[in-house]
Amino acid sequence: MTQRKRALITGITGQDGSYLSEFLLEQGYEVHGIIRRTSTFNTDRIDHIYVDPHNPEARLFLHYGDLTEGVTLRRILEEVQPVEIYNLGAQSHVRVSFDSPEYTVDTVGMGTLRLLEAIRDYQGRTGIEVRFYQAGSSEMFGKVQEIPQQETTPFYPRSPYACAKVFSHWQTVNYRESYGLFACNGILFNHESPRRGETFVTRKITRAIARIVAQQQEKLYLGNIDAKRDWGYAKDYVRAMWLMLQQKTPDDYVIATGETHSVREFLELSFGYVNLDWQAYVEFDDRYLRPAEVDLLIGNPAKAKQQLGWQPSVTFAELVALMVEADLQALGVAAANGAGGKSSADLATIRQRLSTIHE
Ligand code: NAP
Ligand code: GDD
Repeated sequence: MTQRKRALITGITGQDGSYLSEFLLEQGYEVHGIIRRTSTFNTDRIDHIYVDPHNPEARLFLHYGDLTEGVTLRRILEEVQPVEIYNLGAQSHVRVSFDSPEYTVDTVGMGTLRLLEAIRDYQGRTGIEVRFYQAGSSEMFGKVQEIPQQETTPFYPRSPYACAKVFSHWQTVNYRESYGLFACNGILFNHESPRRGETFVTRKITRAIARIVAQQQEKLYLGNIDAKRDWGYAKDYVRAMWLMLQQKTPDDYVIATGETHSVREFLELSFGYVNLDWQAYVEFDDRYLRPAEVDLLIGNPAKAKQQLGWQPSVTFAELVALMVEADLQALGVAAANGAGGKSSADLATIRQRLSTIHE
């Protein structure tokens, strides 16, 4: 019997880790993930795919570890013997990285280096190739030097998080060039979903809308709503990660939709979905401003389209609808209040399309 391909994921409990795990399991992989010990369960996003490891059918396995601890990363690599590693683990909140810069850089920057060193040694000793995916970010473009941003656009990071991602990007390139590792950088623009962390702006908004409709919240406090982002759908983006590791040669790719929208536009569309005027609910709070802001991101995914055959499948309007619907449903207010102002026929069409996109 041929052995299943084995993948190891850091950050498996996060938004992307959960979608990537589902995707790899569908592709027939055995999936191993590194999780951190927490005082309450943090595996909500992967509980639905978890099977007790005593069950012979189990193909998802979890290991305790942390990107700040190289010895454990090495031990897990030796135990699991993966052929692909996806490095998604990170303190991924840009605003928080200004409050907690050392920890952010240790995880986001040094964590990558620890993994690359472990792979270099393992591969050198065993001769077994381990393909490596690094979760790079459009935040690396920061104060943008070119519109739209592509693989050759110079980086200008504007936060501790983004500086650490630039470090990891170049370490990944260096390990590829110095030691011949099959190491790829995905430069992913913002991608969202109903599983997005609750303090990122899109989810903060859609969750607040549901709570407002459910009469559990009156106001939504935000920072800079003029910032513009290239927002895509997370499920599309994890497919791109996998595609990068299936190519003949390792390379770096921008993954984006090629469209940009402001937070203000997200507010209009999402509140509009439930027939509310966002201006009646949204208030400014300077605590959500960043010491340095990234004003505009818009990516050019031409290389990914041409070389990986990748393209996004979900529009901005669909993404907004998907997220609002999911938060309404979570509070059980969808049927009564969802998509106010739309005819029931329109609503049925929207929901039909959304159900084909998500789950
Ligand atoms: P996320 O939801 O914040 O998930 C981050 C994951 O990293 C969680 O599983 C978290 O574990 C884990 N983690 C945090 N600190 C860790 C540490 N010290 N050691 C090991 N694991 C640790 O992030 P995401 O949106 O899925 O993003 C995945 C990756 O892509 C991140 O590296 C992010 O920086 C990058 N990225 C994201 C986007 C985007 O728009 N989503 C765009 C570009 C790049 P806990 O559950 O225990 O906290
Ligand atoms: N989080 C948050 N909360 N952002 C706000 C708020 C607020 O109350 N009000 C306005 N914003 C603005 C931020 O200033 C930023 O310009 C924009 O909304 C998006 O913020 P986030 O959703 O926090 O995402 P991000 O763009 O900073 O970072 C995300 O995308 C990066 C890729 O470009 C994260 O997922 C990063 O990990 C990722 O690398």
